[in-house]
Amino acid sequence: LHVAVLMGGLSSERDVSLSSGKGCADALEGQVARVSRVDAGRDLAQVLAGLKPDVVLNCLHGDWGEDGCVQGILETLQIPYTHSGVLASALTMDKDKTKAVLGAAGIKVPGGGLFDRHEVASRHVIEPPYIVKPNAEGSSVGVYLVPAGANSPPAQVGAADWTYGEQVMVEPYIPGKELAVAVIGETTGPRALTVTDITPVKGFYDYEAKYAPGGSVHKLPAEIPAHVFEAALRESEQAHAALGCRGVSRSDFRYDDVKDELVLLEVNTQPGMTPTSLVPEQAAHLGMTYRDLVRWMVEDASC
Ligand code: DAL
Ligand code: MG
Repeated sequence: LHVAVLMGGLSSERDVSLSSGKGCADALEGQVARVSRVDAGRDLAQVLAGLKPDVVLNCLHGDWGEDGCVQGILETLQIPYTHSGVLASALTMDKDKTKAVLGAAGIKVPGGGLFDRHEVASRHVIEPPYIVKPNAEGSSVGVYLVPAGANSPPAQVGAADWTYGEQVMVEPYIPGKELAVAVIGETTGPRALTVTDITPVKGFYDYEAKYAPGGSVHKLPAEIPAHVFEAALRESEQAHAALGCRGVSRSDFRYDDVKDELVLLEVNTQPGMTPTSLVPEQAAHLGMTYRDLVRWMVEDASC
C-alpha cells in the first residue's frame, strides 16, 4: 500500500500540521509498502496526480485542509482519504453553522453569535466575561478571553492585519472545566473513547497551553460526576453523526460544575496528532497505540 501523508499546508495551523504529519508518517513506516510525505501547496492536485497513492492520510489542519477544499480535490482525483468528507469538513469548520446543527440535534451549545469585528473591537457587545474567536480557525489562534470587569474590548480584533474574517464569534465565558472526547467512526456507528479533563498551567487553553510540553495537565479519565461523563460520551457520538463526520473526530466541551451544565463548544474533524494531542492519548489509554490508531485511520479511509 502506498500512503501519501498530507501535512503543513497554507493555514495558520501549519506548524501543528507538520508535527501531526511527522508523527503519522513515522508511525506508518514499516507498516505499509511506501510512505510519501507531502507538504500541501497550491500544486497539490498535480503532485497527487503524479504520485498516484492508494490512500491519502490527511494530517492538515485549518483553512483549505480541514474545510472541504482538499477533500474536494481528493474526491475529484478519486483517491480514498482519511477523516471527514467535503460536507462535514466544510460545515464543521464554520463554528456558527455547527452550533445551529448541534442545537437542532438537541445538544447544548454556547450562546452569543457572530458580530462585525470592528464593533467587537470598539465596545463590549455582550457582558464580560466573554470569549472572542474567529469563526473558522483552530488551535485557539486569534482567541481572546475578556475577563469579568474588563474595561476594554479586544482591540486586536479590529486591527488592519486581522486575517480571520470580518465576522467573529462572541460567546459568554463558561466557567468550570475544559473537557475533550475523541470519537472513532466505526461501521457500527460512532464510538466515543473517553473524557479528558484539561487544566492549562496558566491562563486558558490557548495555543501555548495546547502545544508547549507541560503547557497543560491532562487527566483521563476525567474525574467528573458519572452522569456528566456519560453525557459527554453520548453527545460526542451524536455530534459526530449529526454533522456527518467520518473516521476520527474530537468534541470539545466546557462543564460548569456550579450549574452542572455541559456545553459543546465545537467538533474538530482533523484533530491534532502531535506529541501533546488528546486523541492519541485517549487511544493509548484504551490500549490502542499511536501506530495502531494511524493504521486504523488508513484502513478506514474511503472516497
Ligand atoms: N485544531 C487542532 C489541530 C485540533 O483540534 O486538535
Ligand atoms: Mg478546534
